[in-house]
Parts: sequence; structure tokens; C-alpha cells
Amino acid sequence: MNESRRDGVDPASVGRRPVLALLGFAPLSAGALPAAAQERIERLIARMSLQEKAGQLTASAHASVGSIGNPLAHQQGEREQLDAIRAGQIGALFNGAGVARKRAAQQAAIDGSRLGIPVLFGADILHGFRTVFPVPLAEAASWDPELARRCARAAAIEAAADGFRWTFAPMVDIARDARWGRGVEGAGEDVLLGCLFAAARVRGFQGDDLAAPDALLATPKHFAGYGAAEGGLDYAGADLSPRTLHEVYLPPFRAAIAAGAAAVMSGFHEIAGVPVTADPALLEGVLRQRWAFDGFVISDYTADEELIAHGVAADGRSAAKASFLAGVDMSMQSGLYLAHLPQLVADGEIPLARLDASVRRVLRVKERLGLFDAPMRGLDDDGASRSGSAPEHLELAREAARRAIVMLRNEGGLLPLAPRGLRIALIGPMAQGPGNLYGPWSLFPGTTPPIDIAQGLRTALGGRGRLRVVRGCGIDRPLPGGVREAVAAARDADVVLLAIGESDTMSGEARSRTSVTLPAAQQALADAVIATGRPTVVLLKNGRALALEGGLTRARSVLVTWFLGTMTGAAIADLVFGLAEPTGRLPVSFPRTPGQVPLYHARRRSGRPWSAADPHADFKARYLDAAPDPLYPFGHGLGYSQVRYESLTLSTQRLPWGQSIEARVRVANVGARDTTEVVQLYLTDKVASVARPERELKAFRRIALRAGEQVEVTLGLAPDDLAFIGVDLQPVIEPGEFVVHAGPSAAGGPQATFTLLPR
Ligand code: NOJ
Repeated sequence: MNESRRDGVDPASVGRRPVLALLGFAPLSAGALPAAAQERIERLIARMSLQEKAGQLTASAHASVGSIGNPLAHQQGEREQLDAIRAGQIGALFNGAGVARKRAAQQAAIDGSRLGIPVLFGADILHGFRTVFPVPLAEAASWDPELARRCARAAAIEAAADGFRWTFAPMVDIARDARWGRGVEGAGEDVLLGCLFAAARVRGFQGDDLAAPDALLATPKHFAGYGAAEGGLDYAGADLSPRTLHEVYLPPFRAAIAAGAAAVMSGFHEIAGVPVTADPALLEGVLRQRWAFDGFVISDYTADEELIAHGVAADGRSAAKASFLAGVDMSMQSGLYLAHLPQLVADGEIPLARLDASVRRVLRVKERLGLFDAPMRGLDDDGASRSGSAPEHLELAREAARRAIVMLRNEGGLLPLAPRGLRIALIGPMAQGPGNLYGPWSLFPGTTPPIDIAQGLRTALGGRGRLRVVRGCGIDRPLPGGVREAVAAARDADVVLLAIGESDTMSGEARSRTSVTLPAAQQALADAVIATGRPTVVLLKNGRALALEGGLTRARSVLVTWFLGTMTGAAIADLVFGLAEPTGRLPVSFPRTPGQVPLYHARRRSGRPWSAADPHADFKARYLDAAPDPLYPFGHGLGYSQVRYESLTLSTQRLPWGQSIEARVRVANVGARDTTEVVQLYLTDKVASVARPERELKAFRRIALRAGEQVEVTLGLAPDDLAFIGVDLQPVIEPGEFVVHAGPSAAGGPQATFTLLPR
């Protein structure tokens, strides 16, 4: 069968139009407010004291929170907090679950405070709320932003039912260094994926209307460049060039704001000596002036106070002044704005108009959320009945989990397994138990118990085969006799499923690692089990790209399963037994060895490039002890069928200035099963005024292919797709030759060349 596919939404089109704007720089349109709401805000501002104004710019951890997700700092007791609310000293509370406490706080604000301004309830809701969805990096492996939108929507519905109206998400930091623990919170290494997932998640959290009862205000974070932390060390500085900042790290923020995000969180880090929380060039210059962002900026947790530790502020007063004047409207948890802004204004060090402008931004967002008109919405009962998961959310969680899994290898078609009469040894510390299913930042899991791998497999087997579960070792320590028992179980089985990897405390905030490998005890277990020669499927649990070493390079099948959430075991069983196809693709490059990181496909071109065709050539960009390319490239992922890239043709070889070009990719499913392929299009700019990446992802399309089917997929490149940040740090498009690569990963496939003609 031969057909041409143009149907469906090209996910890349979401990111395509604004690329020039993303790189540069047209302002975005602001969220409008009705005149009555604006007047209410102005009337309030006219009546507010300096302290009440500083109070609106103060966010505090809810008194119930303790150290959830953050170090303990300036924690208020419940009584003290309610008093502060009544005194108009708190504008927002965060991370406190349960409606009863929120109701008490809101009552204190609207009935007990002089002006009755409602409190905004926020939380870190990154990948689900009661129902835990795959971690964001895993969700990005679906290469389906629409799936991320649906998961964010479900999370918003559950969180709004618990009285939350604001999430500190999406995390849109590009992450190219696997050592950095926080890559798990975002969409990986790539700018296009980063933009598409940022925008989709904002649309999911916020819905169509911020005032809807189930809308969550989104907060892209951590503005900006946090993921470039030197050495992959969380909280370390980033010595980031302006070009890389604009070309790589800022676009996902821009995409999130273009999608309607009305809050932004500034990061903890410094860039080339300037902490971003005190950087007017970024906050005022880029966000407000260039992008015309009209929402508010909140600091990260005590980030304003940390200006003292950075050594750019001597005390709380100067820290508050620096971060406020740089453009941070709201201070999280330090209390510094409340303590110092009134006096700073009274002393003439901060203009009153600046204070009013920040208060106006915060109140505008509260108006847009409908808080003034319905402050008690979502707070009207105890919420206990809503702590379980709705069936449709569990179904979505299962779908999302299935689609997040990436099959790296499958030698001899070991997977899928036929269950009848099969003797399975499920070995490893991740095999069984409720731990290590959710991943970091699932602060509010509900009462629906998660499904672990053993349970998922057992249910799917339904008595048709035998499942033996052996732990073998701990996460990072051997168990006495554990390896021996595991080897015996492997020998007694037809197939081994090896459930190994990182615990959910090995990635996330403050969870950087120097060596992105399996912990030694698990490596020893894996080596011993794989050495038995029994056919082995590795079920890898991870919050980052890992270097797979030793026996793992010889396992017949490897599935990257990340942290999949509530439906982990059910989704893994679906794939293992072939009830669903593996369709995930890597959103990060997997290194051969940890010393290669940072490793990413869009690396700028070297003057002495290494080539796989002559891998040992001297004086090339290579390591003495390892090839410099990834073990598994960005975009890689197998299905149970085989797909061949037959050809790539372009609509023209000579592209007139300002026109779009179409790439037609012919792909064939040459295997025996129906499958889904993610057709990827990369671009190389052959000669430009600055060294450009080896290749950049510019478009992709997921297509269903029946067994034996061959189709032609059309992917377009718009003029903006050829843009980059030029020598003068302005966006530019330069005429000349471009190479287009189509393929199943960044490693490529068929190529074609075109020339962009001069204007
Ligand atoms: C610190 C983290 O960096 C940030 O992502 C989070 O939103 C805040 N803590 C609040 O919990």
C-alpha cells in the first residue's frame, strides 16, 4: 500500500511559527481584563498600605507543610500564619494539601483581613496530583505534546478539587548534562521538544480559561539557564554564553508564555556572576520589555535571600532591593519583601510606582483566576472523597506510562513475550513494592495504590505462566546471598526480567550524581544474571540518561521505563506481553560512558570532527578511551516491527527567500506487526556566520503504519526554521546550503540538500 500522509496536526507546527519570535523577539500579547476588574484593582491599590502591598508580594509555605520538597526555612506555625494573613502579610500559600486548612486560610484572608484580598494557593504539581503520571522527562519520551497536555489537564482537575489554583510547573529547563538531577522534571535536551512540551503543559494546566474552576495557573521555571549548571551540580552557576542562552535556554520559556503562562519563576543560579534573581537584563529586559510578559515573576524558594550567600548582597534589605528592582515581583518563603520593601519605599530607594506595578501584576492574575469573585471555590468540603483517582485518569496514566517507555534494543525479537507456560524470573530491587514508582515531585499521591511491576506482570499473566520474584540486592548495597539466589532463579527460568536502576531519590532537586551509571551493587547483580546466558530483558528505572555498561550492553532487550507513576506495572506488562507497542523515543542522548556528559545531539560543529567511518583517526574530537558519540542517540527507540527509511525528497533544491520547503519522507513498515513511527527531520546549516550545530531537530510526526505499509510523510520547514542567533546576537537567516536529514533518530537516515537563495 502506498499513500501520502498530510493529515493530522504536525506537532512541530506549534513550535514553528514562533521560532523567530522565540529566538528573538516580537512581543507577545497580554491577557486582557474587563474594565470592572481593573477598576477594582486600582481601588485596592489606592487603599493598600505599604505593608499590605509587600504582603501581596509574599508567598509562604503553608503552615502544614514542614520540609516537603524544600529545606526548612522561615516556617510559620498555623496560628502565626493565620494572624499574618489577617494582617494582610501573605499573598500566596504553597504546598499545603487538603481543603480544610486552605479554607481556614482563605476565610482569614477574605473575612479577617482589612481589604479581604483572597490568598492564592499554589503547589509543585509537576506530573499528576492524586493520580501520578510519568515524570515529565518520561512523558517527553512519548514525543507527543498532546499527551502531556492531557496529563497536565487531569492533574489540574485533581489539584483544583483540592483547592489549588496555581502550579509551579512546567519546568522548562533544557537539560544536557545527565549528572544534573533536575533533568527529570523537564523535556530533555532538545529545544523544539522543549518548546512543544512547555506550551502543551501550560495549555493543559491552565485550560482554555484561567477563570474556570479547574484551571491551574502555570509557572514556567526556572528562568533561565538553570539546567546549564556547571558540572551538572544542582545550584551551581552556569557560565552560559548569550548566544546559547537565547538559542537554547530561553525558547521554551517564550513558548510557555506564548501559550498563556501568566507567572514565571526565577532560578537559584547565577550566570557568569549575575544571579538570575537579581538580573534586570533577563527579568526586565527579556521578559517584560522584549516579550511584553504581563504576568508576575516569583523567586524560587528563598532565592532572594540567597543573594547574600552568593555574595552579591550584604544583608536582607539589600537582597530584597536587588531582587525586587531586577524584576522579581513576589518573594517565596524568605519573608524579605515583607520585612524590607515598605521601608525601602519609604526611604526612596524603591519607587512607589514600582511597588504598585508589582502588586498590580499579582492582583491582575488573581482577577484572571476569578479569585475575587469566587474565593472559596474548591474549598467547600473536606476533599477526602476526592483523594482517589477517577477511572479515566487511571486509564490516561496507563496510556501515558505505556507511551513513555523506550525500547533501546530487542535482539532476536525477544520481546514481546508469549505468556502461556512461560517461566519468568523477575529480579532486582525495583521488582516489587510501592517505592520508586512515582519519581521525584509527587508530593500529593492519592489513595489509589500504585501498581508495581510484579503485580502488573502477575495480573497480565493471569495464571498462564509462572512468575518468581527475587530481589537480588538493594538499591546500592548487596544482600547476603542475593546474587546467588538471583542466578539460581535465572537458571530456572525461560526469561529474566531485570528490574534495576535509580531510586526516586537519585534524581530531582539536589540530586546530582557524578557518575550516571547503575549503582555498583546492581551492576554486579546484572552482570551475574546476564552471564547465565538466560534471555534477559532489562527494565531500567531512571530519571536521567544512564551509561549502560558491562553486562547491560549484552542484555537481549532493554526497556527504559523511567518513573511511570501509579500505573507502572500495568503499563510495563502491556508492553512486555505485546498488548501495546513500544513507541517512545529518547528525549536525551544516552552516553557510552559517564565521562562523556554533557552529551547532546545539537552540539556545535568542531573544526576537527570525529567520524565513525574512521574512529581512531588522530587529532580529531574524540576521547582516547571511548568513541564520542552516544550509545543510544537522541530520538532513538524501537518498536516490535521494523521500519525502513526509503527516501527523502524536497519540494525544491533552490528555495526562494521567505518561502517554506517541504520534505517528503518515504517510510516502510517491513516487519510483521502494525507499529507507530516517529519520523524525525533534522537540519544542518552548511555555512553560516557562526558555527552551527551538527544537526538540529526541526520537525517530527508520529505515524501509524500497518504491517507492510509504506507511506510518504510530508514535513514542512518554514523560513523561521532556518534562523539562528547571529554574530551580533540578533536572530538572522542566511542564504546558502542546508542539509536535511530524515530518520528514526538524530543518527540520521536519508539526506537531501537545498540552497536558500538570497533575498
Ligand atoms: C525549590 C525548587 O527549585 C522549585 O522548583 C520549587 O517550585 C520550589 N522549591 C517550591 O517548592
